[in-house]
Amino acid sequence: MSSHEYTVPVPGVEAAEVPEPGAVTIVVPTFNESANVGQLLHRITESVPSRLPLEVVFVDDSTDDTPEVIRRAARDCPFPVTVLHRAEPVGGLGGAVVEGLKAATSEWVVVMDGDCQHPPSLVPELVATGERSGAALVVASRYLKGGSRAGLAGNYRVAVSRAATWLTKSLFPRRLRGISDPMSGFFAVRRGAITAEVLQPLGYKILLELAVRSRPRQVAEVPFVFQDRFAGESKSTAAEGLRFLRHLAGLRAASPAARVIGFGLIGASGFVPNLGALWALTALGTHYVPAEIIANQFGVAWNFLLIEHLLFRDRRAHRRWWDRLGRFALLANADLVLRIPLIALLVGRFGMSAVTATALALVVTFVLRFVGTEALVYLPRRGGNRTTARRAV
Ligand code: GDD
Ligand code: MN
Repeated sequence: MSSHEYTVPVPGVEAAEVPEPGAVTIVVPTFNESANVGQLLHRITESVPSRLPLEVVFVDDSTDDTPEVIRRAARDCPFPVTVLHRAEPVGGLGGAVVEGLKAATSEWVVVMDGDCQHPPSLVPELVATGERSGAALVVASRYLKGGSRAGLAGNYRVAVSRAATWLTKSLFPRRLRGISDPMSGFFAVRRGAITAEVLQPLGYKILLELAVRSRPRQVAEVPFVFQDRFAGESKSTAAEGLRFLRHLAGLRAASPAARVIGFGLIGASGFVPNLGALWALTALGTHYVPAEIIANQFGVAWNFLLIEHLLFRDRRAHRRWWDRLGRFALLANADLVLRIPLIALLVGRFGMSAVTATALALVVTFVLRFVGTEALVYLPRRGGNRTTARRAV
């Protein structure tokens, strides 16, 4: 170990000023990277200085021989290397990283890809930046001066990445302040600053999950050049893109105000299937009263699907789907049944105009329906021990 020099001085800082680094666990998620892991360990050995106490934890979901290749390559490494192979790839890349965070033992955890797109030579700088600035999270960013996304294959991926970054930053302007590259998969985090139990990773964007749910007090960034893959191809797919959108919706829906707005928008969008069905049924000769009732169920089903997947994805476990659907349909139809007498009351008793009464009735039944849906369909489980749930890793 002593043969490895501290070869990567922090720019603008004299070697003598670099504080003694804290210990680091490098967490590497791998999915069929047998052609890359040897090279990665080699590069880590070459570029991380011996005075930086280091361990590497691979969290592997491979179906190829990646674990064996890692174990073989680890024999030549002057630091401990662990492979955690998961029987089930729960949460994909993000789920793997959370497992790694839980298994890490050092003060600092650096998360990096297993395909050599993230230069290990930056590991000491990420940690040194965190120590110097007191930040709990240090992001390696492609969008800072000096950084670039050279390795992002093709204009299409560059455009998608740009759009995703823009969308994400606009959805979380406060939580992502100071993070120019929330999509980065390369970052250092203080182990004491994260509560792995609050994380609900879904796919690739684990940094986003961490920044939004764990809310590290202070963040810093370091520029980096996203390199070409050493071997093989990206494991990201179109399905992964959809998973990202669901992840974004789930993160955003965690705030009550956003949930009310989402509920309203979804409710409004339900007019489309409702009116569509009404049109089809009356065109087929159905009397408009039964047609209204049936058409309303199309709106209800539409709303239910969207609400389930976008708003309450993480609150479904305590009730079966048909139980949730039944309760939701009951509430939605009660809304319809209640509205007319309520309007009659407002007009007859309180002398309101029909339009004002209808507007008020819509607001009242909307609020009742939202509160009812939260409380009667998706009530978060009680009795769960919150203190243990928030325990730091
Ligand atoms: N354990 C595990 N399970 N690892 C996975 C899984 C999985 O389901 N899916 C992918 N990985 C591993 C890969 O083996 C690789 O080591 C790393 O996660 C990144 O996967 P790539 O498939 O190479 O991702 P990418 O290059 O397209 O995307 C990278 O850059 C993006 C920025 O453009 C990742 O770092 C993304 O997180 C990042 O947003
Ligand atoms: Mn990659």
